[in-house]
Amino acid sequence: MYFSIIAILLILMNTYFLTASRDMIFAQKKSFLLVQAITIAANLSASFNDLTVDGVNQIMDRLDVTGLTHITIIGIDGNALYDTNTGTDNSDPSFVAKNISEALAGNDVFYSKFSGGAFSSSAFTPVIDTTGAVIGVVYVHEYDVEQGAILIGLQSTIKSISVVILLLSILMVTFVIWTIMHRLTSILKAIESVREGEYNYRIQVHGNDELALLGDEFNSLTDRLRETEEIRRRFVADASHELKTPLASIRLLSDSILQNEDIDLDTVHEFVSDIGAEAERLSRTTEKLMSLTRLDNKVTVPKEPVDIRSVISGTLRMLRPLAEKNNIRLESSLDGGCLVWSTEDDIYQIVFNLVENAIKYNLPGGSVKISLTRTADNIVLTVDDTGIGVPEPDLPYIFDRFYRVDKARSREAGGSGLGLSIVRMTVRENGGTIEAVRRETGGMRFVVHFPPYHPPESDY
Ligand SMILES: Nc1ncnc2c1ncn2[C@@H]1O[C@H](COP(=O)(O)OP(=O)(O)OP(=O)(O)O)[C@@H](O)[C@H]1O
Ligand SMILES: [Mg+2]
Repeated sequence: MYFSIIAILLILMNTYFLTASRDMIFAQKKSFLLVQAITIAANLSASFNDLTVDGVNQIMDRLDVTGLTHITIIGIDGNALYDTNTGTDNSDPSFVAKNISEALAGNDVFYSKFSGGAFSSSAFTPVIDTTGAVIGVVYVHEYDVEQGAILIGLQSTIKSISVVILLLSILMVTFVIWTIMHRLTSILKAIESVREGEYNYRIQVHGNDELALLGDEFNSLTDRLRETEEIRRRFVADASHELKTPLASIRLLSDSILQNEDIDLDTVHEFVSDIGAEAERLSRTTEKLMSLTRLDNKVTVPKEPVDIRSVISGTLRMLRPLAEKNNIRLESSLDGGCLVWSTEDDIYQIVFNLVENAIKYNLPGGSVKISLTRTADNIVLTVDDTGIGVPEPDLPYIFDRFYRVDKARSREAGGSGLGLSIVRMTVRENGGTIEAVRRETGGMRFVVHFPPYHPPESDY
């Protein structure tokens, strides 16, 4: 593209420019030669009714015309009455004869050509006497090498400039293409390295053009990949550890039963119920892992308007036995008309996990307060407890997968550290936000904001 533009410009410069200058010189020659010829003819016709050699010579001496190579004055009979030739006149005689007869018929004729590095121009004009009759012809010719030389000089200058421009643009284009190719190659190399799993590979970014932008984007993409890969690796490690622990307990308990030959029935009973508890924990953990995978894969269940208050009431019914067992009081203050665009399952997951935590990490005799309020553009769910709270340094991590502040206590309570991460993902999936704060009086407060559901305008 770039080359074609340059080529078109060069061709224009080499042709149009030269033809235009040549045509300009032709026009200038035409006026000069015709004026000369007509001046001579006018002088002759003013002086004579009949042309003679002496008479013509006399007039021509007096006129003293300069700047012409060849002047011929021809009588009506076609004979030359006057002829001076101070240079070259290589006009074709038959061509001259033809134009003389044209002039004898009363017409002005001009002809010019550029060849052999010179302009050779001829003009013919009739000499007319006082009665208006043609009595002869003036023929003037000019052979101009000087202007020809200027034109040829111009031509060769333009040619040299063109060659220089062409070479420069070839150099420039080659350089630009080379740099682009070089940078593209390094990006390609980086893509290859990252594809092979080398996530630490960085592209060195220089400048601020599109390729630099591409490099920058690539680097941040690689960073993201590295993070994701790191999270995945940690998740797999944590998950397998989480599954290994109860399996090891089951193995240990069953081995004890098998190897101990005189084991009494009560102990067997106790061990088997422990095995049952571990198995239950395993199935709970796998169930939670499956929920997380569903959330990760954004498996969408059709949504509908859900009344949070009725879901909370149902959930509290489920959790009351646990609260009673731990000697915890459950209080609730729930506004009506809190509709969200979600699924009952999602709201259940959120409420269940938050309230279960508030009971599990509470102190005997403590309480849990669930409140649901509705403002103009927000639905706010708050779960307060009077429990052990989360130490300030752990606060940023409690929503991470498998994160538990007190591993022993949580495991004892049957926890896997997945509940809050499921809650946060579910809340976000429903367009809401969640935050955890430590209460000044002790215990934790979890606050969830939901966008309210607005029923479509009815026609009635
Ligand atoms: N209300 C709370 N009071 C004090 N600590 C809490 C509270 N809620 C959560 N935590 C802390 O945050 C950790 C993570 O909670 P999360 O619900 O994710 O896991 P879990 O309760 O241990 O297990 P799971 O919910 O999967 O059965 C808990 O182990 C606990 O240490
Ligand atoms: Mg929990």
